[in-house]
Amino acid sequence: MTDQAVAAAGSRQFYGRQRELKALRADIERTGLDTLTGRKAPRARVLLVAGRPGSGRTALAEELIASVADRYPDGVYRARLTEPGGEPVPTARAARELLRDLGVAEPPGAAEDELTEL
Ligand SMILES: Nc1ncnc2c1ncn2[C@@H]1O[C@H](COP(=O)(O)OP(=O)(O)OP(=O)(O)O)[C@@H](O)[C@H]1O
Ligand SMILES: [Mg+2]
Repeated sequence: MTDQAVAAAGSRQFYGRQRELKALRADIERTGLDTLTGRKAPRARVLLVAGRPGSGRTALAEELIASVADRYPDGVYRARLTEPGGEPVPTARAARELLRDLGVAEPPGAAEDELTEL
């Protein structure tokens, strides 16, 4: 049991996966291409957690978020990219939902390009 980490946040309990968490945190720290070219613009890191349905991908992602959230004072935003049935969520809808969560007013009739740019 010593290799099992237990983190309680509310009723959430998380066991194990320490190797995966370490790899994901290391990936966040990795120097990005922009930094190498001297550009300072903050860029998002995209980490992909792959695995079979029900294998604990969401739980791992949430554990990672909980462990780094204090370094992101602007908050945590979630976007669902697939429907429960697996179909992709249209980009414009995902962008609209994120803008709503961010409190950004959506220009009436905005097209996908404009929404993603915003
Ligand atoms: N490391 C873990 N510690 C404790 N519980 C876990 C862990 N990993 C997964 N679980 C639990 O197992 C169940 C399935 O995990 P989860 O929903 O994260 O899988 P998923 O790969 O995201 O599945 P889905 O295909 O539904 O997206 C959940 O109830 C989750 O809380
Ligand atoms: Mg999931």
